[in-house]
Amino acid sequence: MENKVIENLVEKAIEARNMAYAPYSGFKVGAALLDASGGIHLGCNIENAALTPGNCAERTAFFTSIAQGKRQFSAIAIVGGADNLVDDCFPCGVCRQVMMEFCGEGFQIIIAQNPQNYRIFTLPQLLPHGFGPGHISPK
Ligand code: THU
Repeated sequence: MENKVIENLVEKAIEARNMAYAPYSGFKVGAALLDASGGIHLGCNIENAALTPGNCAERTAFFTSIAQGKRQFSAIAIVGGADNLVDDCFPCGVCRQVMMEFCGEGFQIIIAQNPQNYRIFTLPQLLPHGFGPGHISPK
């Protein structure tokens, strides 16, 4: 993946983070999901007074994209933190499982602090021995 594409995706994730609704944790997360046709879908975390209805930035991006008919993905950039983006923000286990449903082995997970400072992981690295659609035999 070209540096320019990655940098742009990280910038979009930072933009998405500005939309985060996180009054309870104060931890704001943004995600930018690149689909196979080059479209970018943004997501932020959305918390709730009843706590459990809250949603992570990554799943917001996936579900928004899928509802728009895009189900094939190349990469996601993720940024998060309470104040400055000084720490890496890795996806939670539930979001990794959602990636397992829709993403192939080539899918790139970009964990960023800014457009020049990021690391790239694959899903098998973050979810080894994951359970996915291929494990369920058709009836
Ligand atoms: N969160 C995300 O949106 N994505 C992550 O990768 C980790 C955690 C959110 C959930 C919650 O709103 C807040 O961050 C603190 O856990």
